[in-house]
Amino acid sequence: MKLIDAKDLRKAFGSFATGVTVVTTESDASGPVGFTANSFTSVSLDPPLLLVCLAHGMRCFPLFEQTQRFAVNILADDQQEISSTFASRGADKFAAVQWRASHTGSPLLEGVAAWFDCEVHQRILAGDHTILIGRIVDYAYENRAPLGFCGGGYLRFGLLQQAVESSHRHGRVRVGAILECAEGLLLEEHSDTGHFSVPAATRLGSSGAKGGLFGHCAAAGYTITLPFLFAVYEEADTQFVIHRGTAIRQAPSDLAHQPWVGSLRVFSLDNIPWEKIASSPERMMLERYQRERATNVTGIYVGTAESGDLHTVTATRPL
Ligand SMILES: Cc1cc2nc3c(=O)[nH]c(=O)nc-3n(C[C@H](O)[C@H](O)[C@H](O)COP(=O)(O)O)c2cc1C
Repeated sequence: MKLIDAKDLRKAFGSFATGVTVVTTESDASGPVGFTANSFTSVSLDPPLLLVCLAHGMRCFPLFEQTQRFAVNILADDQQEISSTFASRGADKFAAVQWRASHTGSPLLEGVAAWFDCEVHQRILAGDHTILIGRIVDYAYENRAPLGFCGGGYLRFGLLQQAVESSHRHGRVRVGAILECAEGLLLEEHSDTGHFSVPAATRLGSSGAKGGLFGHCAAAGYTITLPFLFAVYEEADTQFVIHRGTAIRQAPSDLAHQPWVGSLRVFSLDNIPWEKIASSPERMMLERYQRERATNVTGIYVGTAESGDLHTVTATRPL
């Protein structure tokens, strides 16, 4: 049997993309309580059942052990802050959100994509979690893009759509990526100016084709994967769509048939050549990346080079 490391197992579980919910209940003694959960699953249509898995270590666990009712709020695309708030320990989680009580008394959050009001149907002890099965007594849903979660980061489907739409509107588009490899961060050297930038191209393309970001990196000896969108912003007349991903150095034999471009260079994260990064939005973006990497939070920036919106959220959960 494989020796299982809990942190690594969590990473493996993280390959499964989910939505994000806030599970709530209330008690006379503590008032409204809730926590962020992505273990939500629909269970049955008749009777109407759903489930969520509760870690025994949560502070609110004893209240959910006793309650006879709870609600599941499916967060919308723009509710990362709420996910972050309800994933944190302590603090008055309900102070910063608009909510109302369902008719069974559980808190329903404003602006969610859907909510389900439940009575407890069954509790099943399962390892260090309890599977809480709810019988749905009422529910509602809106036509709002849901918030997604995968690999420790949030996915914003609405933002992806916005990036695609705005790239159609703009004459000039640069598609770039913050690319981490085993040794550090990949930056592109511009031999004419001596400046560095994040690797970028006019489109994503594919690794076999010339011109796109994938092809550009492949020609320089790297296979890249881009699971997250990191920033969408405008600078002058150009729309920038920046992804966050990883790069793996190809074995030398795979490179034999490809021309060596050599414009990509690796820098360790504490040795980024800041003074040679000409674009100030890029410097800000890389600084943000460094910060987020150090603190395990992630965010997505949308706006112009001068002003915009950064949604920053806790992306990993404590064991
Ligand atoms: C995206 C995401 C999903 C989570 N899913 C679950 C979950 O399904 N079950 C769980 O017990 N904790 C989950 N957590 C962790 C809890 O939200 C977290 O432990 C919270 O702080 C508990 O609050 P409390 O300890 O103040 O009661 C998740 C956290 C995040 C960020």
